[in-house]
Amino acid sequence: MTTGLLITFEGVDGCGKTTQLRRLEQRLIAAGHAPLVVREPGGTGVGEALRELVLAPETGDIDPATEALIYAASRAENVARVIEPALAAGRIVLMDRYVDSSLAYQGGGRELGIDRVLEANLLATRGRLPDATVLVAVTPAVAAARLGSTGDDPDRLESAGDAFFTRVHAAYAELVARFPDRVLRVDGAAAVAEVARAVEAALEPVLAAAGVTLAAAAAEVRA
Ligand code: TYD
Repeated sequence: MTTGLLITFEGVDGCGKTTQLRRLEQRLIAAGHAPLVVREPGGTGVGEALRELVLAPETGDIDPATEALIYAASRAENVARVIEPALAAGRIVLMDRYVDSSLAYQGGGRELGIDRVLEANLLATRGRLPDATVLVAVTPAVAAARLGSTGDDPDRLESAGDAFFTRVHAAYAELVARFPDRVLRVDGAAAVAEVARAVEAALEPVLAAAGVTLAAAAAEVRA
């Protein structure tokens, strides 16, 4: 591999994407790769400071455009300092949220519109869209139940309300329709191992095209 591979995980809060990302990471390590895991917002010094700012409930209401640009600024740091260098070195980069989170949360949830948020993000990412995006899809009821069971205090975005999350769900569905070759929808309602198998099946063509093969079944990997 000479150009690396950028795979992102997406979905509403509580969908289980982080668990699935970690499982794929372990599978890739078992296959002899050294994937780099990056989370957004965050991932760099400036990015973590921006994460704190944008997620802290104490920040209160901010203008939707400001919010979109804070996420985009965190992303720009990540792309310039972490993601592009890793891809240039031929690595597989696994991201816990990326451009599509902004398209869904700020474009849809905050009603800025997918196109306008995409424009800002083409600047932030230097046009580097993912090679594949796994959308871990769950119903609003499943997501709310999983979030409620963590016992963590909700962050500023998680407190945005039902109407906001209905719009985020709808925007993610729109992204599947709009980018069918890139955004791969996986049903996230099933048990973790079953979802992991579906994730691998969805990614198989992209991995194979990059010369990456995973041995045996995902069910053998511990969570
Ligand atoms: P996440 O890291 O998934 O939250 P947690 O660590 O609590 O699992 O994401 C933080 C929140 O930020 C989440 O509610 C989604 C939101 N978000 C956006 O609204 N836009 C974005 O571009 C990104 C990356 C995240």
